[in-house]
Amino acid sequence: MLSPCRKVYIETYGCQMNVSDSEVVLSVLAGHGFVRTDRREEADLILVNTCSIRENAEQRVRGRLQIFQQEKRRRKVIVGIIGCMAERLKEQLLEEEQVVDLVVGPDAYRRLPELIAQVDEGLKAVDVKLSGTETYADILPSRYDANGVSAFVSIMRGCNNMCAYCIVPYTRGKERSRSRDSILDEVWQLITDGYKEVTLLGQNVDSYGWKAPDGTVVNFAQLLEEVAALSPTLRVRFSTSHPKDMSDEVLYAMARHRNICRSIHLPAQSGSTRMLELMNRHYTREWYLDRMAAIRRILPDAAVSTDLIAGFCTETEEDHRATLSLMQQCRFDFAFMFKYSSRPRTLAARKYTDDVPDEVKTARLEEMIALQNVLSEESKRSDVGKTFEVLIEGDSKRSAEEWCGRTSQNKMVVFPKRGGAVGEYVQVHVTGCTSATLLGEMSQI
Ligand code: 5AD
Ligand code: SF4
Repeated sequence: MLSPCRKVYIETYGCQMNVSDSEVVLSVLAGHGFVRTDRREEADLILVNTCSIRENAEQRVRGRLQIFQQEKRRRKVIVGIIGCMAERLKEQLLEEEQVVDLVVGPDAYRRLPELIAQVDEGLKAVDVKLSGTETYADILPSRYDANGVSAFVSIMRGCNNMCAYCIVPYTRGKERSRSRDSILDEVWQLITDGYKEVTLLGQNVDSYGWKAPDGTVVNFAQLLEEVAALSPTLRVRFSTSHPKDMSDEVLYAMARHRNICRSIHLPAQSGSTRMLELMNRHYTREWYLDRMAAIRRILPDAAVSTDLIAGFCTETEEDHRATLSLMQQCRFDFAFMFKYSSRPRTLAARKYTDDVPDEVKTARLEEMIALQNVLSEESKRSDVGKTFEVLIEGDSKRSAEEWCGRTSQNKMVVFPKRGGAVGEYVQVHVTGCTSATLLGEMSQI
């Protein structure tokens, strides 16, 4: 007998990889009679896909759990924690958070139906085994939050880098690459379904490497070209690049294909070589600047974004100044900036002292944000007067009379509708900007 459909509600925190994983989870569950709902109050199963990257990411999830606890007092519902926090805290989560029935790490999503069945029997269920091989290659993700235009495609999992501050290698395990063929199949399916943009995801895409049956190894530059060659009207993005591994070969592959977007996310973390060494990043400030120069030379119209950490262990005022001057020199178009947060088990937590006082971290972060605001504004101002090809994503937040979409450089543009439709490419002349977006006019079509 077919059991009636059960409803799953999922909240996703953290990185794009988590969004992509939530799509895998929904696909696994859809194969076992679950349908997704946006309304938590009607869900039979609440899943939280969690992030451990900084202490505050975990605090947020703990806050959500309190709310689910109140809900569980009122009605029967299963609550599951999945993702990085599940992996980091394991059974401890069951002890600390009464509300949790299910704890499942990033490599155990295939077992979710089985684990839910255990909970149905009145038990608590945990699977946090990491795998050296799992890539979910054969699972076609259920596109979630989809605008039908852009989708994430995971090309690898895990990370071998062991940056001193980072929890990811502990929560996502060893690096492994997904087969080229399964990636191309998935992208082809997206094209067939009308998608216009894919973002290839990995913690360090530059170290992608898949051994073909004939023994040859497909590297990231080759994969990128093969994906781009599937359709000239498909935009291809990728994230994240690592400065130590980003090769000229990847930049030349981008230059050869107009549909590979002119946008590179290249986390610097710090502008001080001393800090970079302590962080175990395997490059110097000069090396980073050399990679930046290669981007400017090979892809002069590319936008570059970065990640920066304020107040890592032993960071001095001089180190901090070096980060500010790196920002000035690179003129980043966009930056994600964070206060250092010590994570248990990492090299930094075990071997270094988190000795920069919180108020100093805050002051340095604020200084970085203020500088980046100036750089981001400059970057947008330099686009005024130019015309860009924009992929329409939907109505602007402000008005149904306006479209919003992105340039190849990943900058958001808002412009009055004059024809065009979601998923179409239009030429937009940029006439101005706000702090967050470019403003423009569609060229007559
Ligand atoms: N504290 C602060 N920021 C961190 N990041 C990673 N680990 C930490 C940490 N412990 C930042 C890095 C990384 C981004 C995803 O998060 O800048 O690139
Ligand atoms: Fe993503 Fe890292 Fe957060 Fe895990 S800890 S969800 S890999 S950002």
